[in-house]
Amino acid sequence: MMDFINRIELTAHGQEIAQRLIDTRNRELALILDLSEEQLIGPPNPTVEPPIWELGHVGWFQDRWILQNIDKREPSDPKADLLYHSFNVANDARWHLSYPSLGQTVEYITDILDKVISRLAKREPTVEEVYYYNLVLNHEEMHSETMHHIRHTLSYPAPKFTLDSPRPLIDEGYALEKIAIPGGVYRLGGLPEQVFIFDNEKWAHPVEVAPFLISSTPVTFGQYQAFVNAGGYQERSFWCAEGWGWLENSGQDGPTYWKRGPEGGWRWRWFDRWRPIEDNLPMVNVNWYEANAYCRWADCRLPSEAEWELAASAALLPEGQGIDTQKKWYPWGNQHPSESQANLNSRYGQIVDVRAFPEGDSAFGLRQMIGNVWEWTADTFDAFPGYVIDPYDTYSKPSFGQQKVLRGGSWVTRPHVVRNSYRNFYTPDRNNIFAGFRTAHTIHAEK
Ligand code: AVJ
Ligand code: FE
Repeated sequence: MMDFINRIELTAHGQEIAQRLIDTRNRELALILDLSEEQLIGPPNPTVEPPIWELGHVGWFQDRWILQNIDKREPSDPKADLLYHSFNVANDARWHLSYPSLGQTVEYITDILDKVISRLAKREPTVEEVYYYNLVLNHEEMHSETMHHIRHTLSYPAPKFTLDSPRPLIDEGYALEKIAIPGGVYRLGGLPEQVFIFDNEKWAHPVEVAPFLISSTPVTFGQYQAFVNAGGYQERSFWCAEGWGWLENSGQDGPTYWKRGPEGGWRWRWFDRWRPIEDNLPMVNVNWYEANAYCRWADCRLPSEAEWELAASAALLPEGQGIDTQKKWYPWGNQHPSESQANLNSRYGQIVDVRAFPEGDSAFGLRQMIGNVWEWTADTFDAFPGYVIDPYDTYSKPSFGQQKVLRGGSWVTRPHVVRNSYRNFYTPDRNNIFAGFRTAHTIHAEK
């Protein structure tokens, strides 16, 4: 596929963009092409969309933002807006539309990708073009994550990618403990030197953060199971009013993907497999209400966004002088994630032990802030001061005030997408995201 790219003359930068577009597309296709005809469209489930929709949508998005927006072309398919426009076609409606065949859909999106790459021939892309190429890349990379959610939610098999040895080394001696972080003035948000950044992250601005404690790892299955077995799903006082409403409505007596096995112990579903509880995996597929209820039971709280980012990004100055103001892109510094630093990109095919990846530690010694599981924070997703909306105006703004912020990326996040300052967001009832959480405490000054 895509051999035509060798026949067009691209500048080095154009070549780099084209390679990423193709690589991202191959990932998207690999997540879909092993599915059967029935799996591509059913059974309806309102929290996700059918895989066939996903495939058309990523092509439609390139058509809209590159070919229509920059080049003022007519839509490649005049009917595509009625199918693939995410803002106008609600999730549950996406199950009841009549789609082109798989072959036709692949042809539609490949034709668009051909045009998107060919237009870079023989010249340097402009600054504006680079912005929109990064937009469509980020968008498609996010949708490969969505494809994993769909496969997991619908009990399809986990996708199999590349690695021969799917388990990273586990650092058995690493302690699951609370780490004290001094407060200070922290600059929350993205910096202009970042290659691509969504409007919701603009820009870094000072916030005052009080000293706090935060868990060295995300809450584990073992820790979460203690909450479940202590009657956490039966005791109203642990739940916020909305969360209790969600729980009553769901009728669950434990996490969404758990059930009791024949001997009474819990099992959890991972894609198409039921697994025993593995104590040192990070708790995953819990929604914000569940994370919040666990914290109330454990007498702690979710970290704020500012606390989370400070713990990932800042460093301690010597002799009690507080924190530095230098922001790092990743917990380990500014270098792009390597395979020994974080569980990203489906490289390991699954979530892994919370004690793995010592090379990815933050300056304060927190582990796995990037990768493995997204982490719910206490905060509602909102604009930063001085917010200016970007051209893709339905990305952030409609979710402001409605959703909760998650940080850090998961085992399926593509490495280019995530950084310390990256803000993801979902409604607090979503439990099919690969999300867990850390716990935090306020440090009360002694009198
Ligand atoms: C930012 C991940 C919540 O998947 O709903 C994809 C990303 N927006 N296409 C989502 C998104 C439009 C969005 N999240
Ligand atoms: Fe989208």
